[in-house]
Amino acid sequence: MTNIFKNDFEILHDDKYIYFDNAATTQRPKQVINAVSEFYRTINSNPLRGLYKWSVKSTAAYENARSKVAEFIGAEDSSEIIFTRNSTESINLIAHSWGLSNIKEGDNITVTILEHHSNLLPWQMVSRVTGASLTFIECSSDGEISDEEILNKIPSNTKLVSAAEISNVLGVRLPIEKISKRAHEVGAVMVVDGAQSAPHKPVDVKALGADFFVFSGHKVMAPMGIGVLYGKLSLLESMPPFLLGGEMIESVSRYDAVFAPVPEKFEAGTVNAAGAVGLAAAIDYVENIGFDIISQREEKLCRLMIEGIKTIPFTKYFGSRIPETHSGIVTFNIEGCHPHDVSSILDTENICIRAGQHCAQPLHEHLGIPASARASMYFYNDESEVERFLEALKKVRSWLGYGN
Ligand code: ALA
Repeated sequence: MTNIFKNDFEILHDDKYIYFDNAATTQRPKQVINAVSEFYRTINSNPLRGLYKWSVKSTAAYENARSKVAEFIGAEDSSEIIFTRNSTESINLIAHSWGLSNIKEGDNITVTILEHHSNLLPWQMVSRVTGASLTFIECSSDGEISDEEILNKIPSNTKLVSAAEISNVLGVRLPIEKISKRAHEVGAVMVVDGAQSAPHKPVDVKALGADFFVFSGHKVMAPMGIGVLYGKLSLLESMPPFLLGGEMIESVSRYDAVFAPVPEKFEAGTVNAAGAVGLAAAIDYVENIGFDIISQREEKLCRLMIEGIKTIPFTKYFGSRIPETHSGIVTFNIEGCHPHDVSSILDTENICIRAGQHCAQPLHEHLGIPASARASMYFYNDESEVERFLEALKKVRSWLGYGN
């Protein structure tokens, strides 16, 4: 193994598998696994409740993770960071709490056609319950959004705009700054889904113009089941809780309760402290490598893969003509081959990709394709893996009985 970036990943050690499903979830380095294991081995206890040493330490570890996340995304105050299970739960929290309290009939909600279902279904629900309209910013076939679309699809009655920073299908970055500027011009709140951006590029919630920003730990090498909701403090303070129960209260009487201040107000029940500790270790790991190296490697791999795909007959990739903008994601189809078959055939060569609609059915309809195959790379992938992948791709049609 010559790829030093794989050194910390036991699962990738023997080079047997090519893991190209990083947009679905990334692998965990030993530093993250060890941090979680150390939490359970040395201080495991329920944080925020106990007055004994272990609990005090687990509370400190949990709150340290919160501060680390705040710094990672440029939040002003660690109280602006709420730990959730994942991006999906974070968006549902915003929809149920802010959405249902602030959006009314006659208002508008705007999303883009590129959204993952987790950034669409919660807004469909708010629209259905309140009677507000739901409007889509469309994109071109290569994923570009025009200034006119932003202007026209965020009308003056818009109360909330929600958009992914990076598309989980096309890999392209959306013009978030322009979208949030227009959202703020009409007095709307801006939600940014950072599930596919936080692992790949530096995030500054203020520069993005995000009133809310969400991401999932598991896509940035942290454990599954820990996610983040960032919200501006004034917004979070004005919102009702999403889940009710233990540790999110100041006081409780028989028929009423006074809720705790943020962030506790939004963290009912026993929290995922070990997950938060793992996320802090993952952030340390990413920062140690550096986003300049991460994006350089991803760009190089994307260029190699896209150039290779272009030379394979009957194979077409979707998204931008500029490989550098693909953020590690290359989505493609092979004529006459269902993406599920493509994925299964690649699996016979131990190549892991995702096939289907990638939880983005409306985008597939918009692109006029029923499904697609997606190879998504991270900094620990390398050129030899892309070459093995391209060789395997060349054989798919003959596997399925085509003449070439
Ligand atoms: N959101 C993840 C993906 O795009 C699961 O694959």
